[in-house]
Amino acid sequence: MRRTATVAGFAAASLILAACGGGGDGGNDAATGGGGGGGGNQVEVFTWWAQGSEKAGLDALVKVFNEQHPDIKFVNGAVAGGAGSAAKDMLQSRLQAGDPPDTFQAHAGKELTDYINAGQLEDVSNLYDEFGLKDVFPQDLLDLLTVDNAIYSVPSNIHRSNVVWANPSVLEDAGIDPAAVPADIDAWITDLQKVKDAGKTPLSVATTWTQVHLLETVLMSDLGADGYNGLWTGDTDWNGPEVTAALEDFQTLMDFTNTDRDGLDWPESTQMVIDGTAAYNVMGDWAVAAFEEQGIERGTGFVDFPVPGTDSMFGFLADSFTMPVGAPDPDGAKAWLETVGSLEGQVAFNKAKGSIPARTDADPAEFSEYQQSAIEAYAKDTIVPSLAHGAASPIAVLNGISDATSKFTTGASDLKTFQSELATAAGS
Ligand code: GAL
Repeated sequence: MRRTATVAGFAAASLILAACGGGGDGGNDAATGGGGGGGGNQVEVFTWWAQGSEKAGLDALVKVFNEQHPDIKFVNGAVAGGAGSAAKDMLQSRLQAGDPPDTFQAHAGKELTDYINAGQLEDVSNLYDEFGLKDVFPQDLLDLLTVDNAIYSVPSNIHRSNVVWANPSVLEDAGIDPAAVPADIDAWITDLQKVKDAGKTPLSVATTWTQVHLLETVLMSDLGADGYNGLWTGDTDWNGPEVTAALEDFQTLMDFTNTDRDGLDWPESTQMVIDGTAAYNVMGDWAVAAFEEQGIERGTGFVDFPVPGTDSMFGFLADSFTMPVGAPDPDGAKAWLETVGSLEGQVAFNKAKGSIPARTDADPAEFSEYQQSAIEAYAKDTIVPSLAHGAASPIAVLNGISDATSKFTTGASDLKTFQSELATAAGS
């Protein structure tokens, strides 16, 4: 994915939070029948935002939905498991069984293309016209949602994957200046060793998908933006020595992680940094919502910086919502998509979720200091697509890479086998 022109960033225009939908004092989630305006009376929304700060984000969006569409009942179809690790398989079974939800969460990019190619999604470009959405999203994001001039989902947010979250007290206790960001992975390894010597877990990680998440950021760091992008275009050789060196770094980083990792999901591994049992965690910026939810302040309670060596890169992913073919209540889905695309919905959701709005007309001043830094980074950095979150590769490739990673990190394969299995999974 390449970004040609400057993505508009965020127009500083002091737009008022004009709700697209019908206002009202809402808050009603009762299943009352037959709303006006031709709407259905319920919408099953399928996501993996089932717990913690992710659920808080979803709840914020539902609140706006209830205000905009008081006569439509929101039905929560969330399936727990970070990054859709359980939800995506279940969704696939439902789609294949002809039992789709009314709308489901899907990542912009290759993952969405999978559903489009399988004929599982309706073209919603008419809704873009009806809701006036064509001009409010960055063109490069629209390109990721579009196939053959049809648009297949409405984006809710943009997240950054390549972020390190760290506990400043743990760093200080290990003799590391929390304000000094390591220049590259080698420099970071020196600091990780200091934390280890001080008796804390240097780097917290959780189950397989979070290990793949870590892997993608090491590949970004060691290969650079062009080299990393080449992994997905065929220009970078998965079997080459540069990838070997990156995998060696990944192995070294994994040696600094907690041994109970495979039994954890991201909230627990991020919590280790919050609690001060670990120094660092690499996670997408949904993590910031977990810090904020617990009243931990940026600067004093936590620090964040791009994964060493990825300073000028923005590891990109975006969530979006679809209208599946055969949705039982397409009017309910339409109402949900209207809220997802609305300025009011995007501001409320993203404030709670840690992401930045996909819309370009939200006022940055509405958002936290961290989010303002992400807004700036998104406007100026080189965009590189996330592997672990559906932007870079089809689901089958990600599944193959995840299997190979799990084998490697559980000791069932060596580095050479790991590399060749990655190459096979990526189709090279
Ligand atoms: C990503 C998703 C984010 C966040 C994260 C952790 O795939 O895009 O919104 O939910 O998983 O579950």
